[in-house]
Amino acid sequence: MPQEKLQTVLTDDPAAAAEFIRSGGTCAFPTETVYGLGANVFNADAVAKIFKAKQRPADNPLIAHVGSVDQIGSLAFSIPPHAERLIEKFFPGPLTIVLKKSNDVPLIATAGLDTIGVRMPRHRLAHEFLAACGTPVVAPSANLSGRPSPTTWQAVYEDLNGRIDCILQGDATEIGLESTVVDCSGDAPVVLRQGAVTLADIRAIVPNALMGNESGDEKPKSPGLRYRHYSPAASVVIVSSNELPALKRNAGFIGLEPESRTEEFAYSKVCRSIEEYARSVFEFFRECDRRGIETVYCESVPEEGIGAALMDRLRRAAHG
Ligand code: TXA
Ligand code: MG
Repeated sequence: MPQEKLQTVLTDDPAAAAEFIRSGGTCAFPTETVYGLGANVFNADAVAKIFKAKQRPADNPLIAHVGSVDQIGSLAFSIPPHAERLIEKFFPGPLTIVLKKSNDVPLIATAGLDTIGVRMPRHRLAHEFLAACGTPVVAPSANLSGRPSPTTWQAVYEDLNGRIDCILQGDATEIGLESTVVDCSGDAPVVLRQGAVTLADIRAIVPNALMGNESGDEKPKSPGLRYRHYSPAASVVIVSSNELPALKRNAGFIGLEPESRTEEFAYSKVCRSIEEYARSVFEFFRECDRRGIETVYCESVPEEGIGAALMDRLRRAAHG
């Protein structure tokens, strides 16, 4: 069904943007990870608009964003001690904690699950926006389903203009990869999606934390990870620094290699650090698509720090 064309308002005023959430609409906003597309978590009709705007499969649950730690009580049925410790250490920040949900959270927000992901962004504009909303806000990444997550408001506009009520305009996001998702609804925390907060960071606080595929239980992992993700239209090929291809017409390259090789590619970006690579990769994918590039070569990085999450996203893009 074609959706009615909405007038998408652009503003840099968090209070004006929050009005759209308060009146049951949708509004995209920046966080330190990627831009999110928000709606009032307790308003099922508003939450439905997110799924429609993004063309998101209904079985993929949303993360609720809070402006203060006390709002978690309205979302979660209970907060186990290991979750308390992670909240104390990492909120606000790029970590999402999955908890048993309260009865007030409509099932559409959690795609029918009895758990809910909760995150408190540490971004100034996000904080002002969430405070002005006066309610927790569910927000998936503000891209059309299957496209790379947006790290600029312009990328949100490219995907969702005419499909959402408002975009709160901020700067390009600082981290550039989505938050770490850790399931705290069981006995030990289980990392479902890697991000800027690493498994080692979590184990420093809760030593028995596990990586998703080590936990040995058969529960479905983060449902969103089943879907095609983070992918440009171009095919993505992961290469190590010593196996860069010879001259490739209509190919792109992103990595850490010295500047000297870049003129061999139609479009390239050499990053000074793994952090810069992580911050830039989704926008690089989008720019490759705008330029009609057919193959994107991505240099592999050591899986330390943000490198683990970056390699995870590159592999998903390559196999998507
Ligand atoms: O950094 C981020 O997390 C961004 C910003 C906007 O906060 N949001 C984001 O949302 O990336 P989204 O919807 O694109 O990804 C959420 C991921 C999906 O893989 C989803 O399946 C998982 O979190 N998730 C959400 N709720 C869950 C739950 N109750 N149990 C397991 N996984 C859950
Ligand atoms: Mg997403």
